[in-house]
Amino acid sequence: MIEILRKRRSIRKYRDKDIEPEIVELLKEAALRSPTSRNFRPWRFVFVENRGKLEALSKAKPSGSSFLAGARLGVVVCADEDESDVWIEDCSIASIILQLVGESLGLGSCWIQIRLRMHDDSQTSEEHIRAVLGLPESIRVESMIAFGYPDEEKAPIPAKELEREKILPS
Ligand SMILES: Cc1cc2nc3c(=O)[nH]c(=O)nc-3n(C[C@H](O)[C@H](O)[C@H](O)COP(=O)(O)O)c2cc1C
Repeated sequence: MIEILRKRRSIRKYRDKDIEPEIVELLKEAALRSPTSRNFRPWRFVFVENRGKLEALSKAKPSGSSFLAGARLGVVVCADEDESDVWIEDCSIASIILQLVGESLGLGSCWIQIRLRMHDDSQTSEEHIRAVLGLPESIRVESMIAFGYPDEEKAPIPAKELEREKILPS
């Protein structure tokens, strides 16, 4: 796991290569194995592979989401907020687990922030995504994780660049 963390970087350019169904299945299993507060499992995951839908979802924000159009898979991480008061934490954990398992399977990925973001002056990014996917209003959208086989190389962050001062004295 530490080796995966050492080399993981956000990847926003993807090869023209489909993700095998068995890999998608492993990502689904990983999402569903994510721990949740009090084991309430408030999340819902929408696995989107349809190019037209990925294109529509890529317009969720004016910036920071367009690369989803070139991804081969987007996982929309959402939750029923009535099922847990800490759905945000639960969705965050599922999102990073998806990214780390994807990394372990050779996929590149990048988190796209949705909660608290705007699509335009009148519509939130969450509203845009609910409309694209036909989700009910009770479903809150935290993030979208874009996946694909990497078409860019990024150097790992060197150990000497880690901000050791962020570890406070005990
Ligand atoms: C909570 C969160 C929200 C993020 N939102 C976006 C986003 O909307 N668009 C994007 O391109 N990258 C997004 N990122 C990726 C970060 O920009 C990236 O992780 C950070 O710059 C560090 O780079 P690295 O992942 O390559 O180490 C997000 C990451 C996190 C953890």
